[in-house]
Amino acid sequence: MRIDFVTLFPELVLPALEHSMMSRAARAGIVKFSAQNPRDFATDKHKTVDDSPYGGGPGMVMMAPLVESALTACERTSATAVVLTDPAAPLFTQHDAESLGKFEHVVFVCGHYEGIDERVRTKLCTHAFSIGDFVLTGGELPALLMTDGIVRLLPGVLGSQESHEDDSHSNSGLLGFPLYTKPATFLGESVPEVLTSGNHQKIAQWRRQQQLIRTKKDRPDLFCTADLSPDDLDLL
Ligand SMILES: C[S@@+](CC[C@H](N)C(=O)[O-])C[C@H]1O[C@@H](n2cnc3c(N)ncnc32)[C@H](O)[C@@H]1O
Repeated sequence: MRIDFVTLFPELVLPALEHSMMSRAARAGIVKFSAQNPRDFATDKHKTVDDSPYGGGPGMVMMAPLVESALTACERTSATAVVLTDPAAPLFTQHDAESLGKFEHVVFVCGHYEGIDERVRTKLCTHAFSIGDFVLTGGELPALLMTDGIVRLLPGVLGSQESHEDDSHSNSGLLGFPLYTKPATFLGESVPEVLTSGNHQKIAQWRRQQQLIRTKKDRPDLFCTADLSPDDLDLL
């Protein structure tokens, strides 16, 4: 898979991918990262990438033709997913991470200033996502978050010890269960007895119950849409 970033700040993006799982995936040849800077395609002496908004108002808007040039340099094809980072777009979910992982080429378009000319969204992008109901200065962190979410799901990235099957938001749509490791007692709190019982059926049941309780309490919105069985209702 190839993941490119159209960004005014490649230095914010590429070094962040040189660590941990993302660099492991790149070294294993599972993913290749690169970046194109719209500023490199500006032709005036000041390398201008933005202009004031039509209709007036504060701030500056990134110009569409330079974003298009950067996208062309990414060698996108009709099969490329071109993803706009945008606080005004639908929220990015685990399901979107799985879907984007099926593309061979994904390009993230990172906005700055007041945002990007709307025609980038309507004419050049195939997807648009927000990473939360808050506004950041630029699209680089959102693009990195989405990249991590996508790449860790690609076959061969997580070892067998690090499965994502039980992760929050996977499969059943419930939150994950609480995890414990040594020491058995910490600040007066002991590990739940069932986890040291060696009874795998009871452990699985306890974990599922915790997932149900947590999701119902902390994310009632997810609980309403979770895929629950009659056994789940008994466990609750
Ligand atoms: C300061 S923001 C622009 C906010 C825009 N004026 C608005 O009100 O929707 C600049 C850029 O940061 C990125 N950005 C900011 N917050 C984001 C979020 N929650 N999710 C995704 N991208 C975000 C987008 O690329 C956006 O174009």
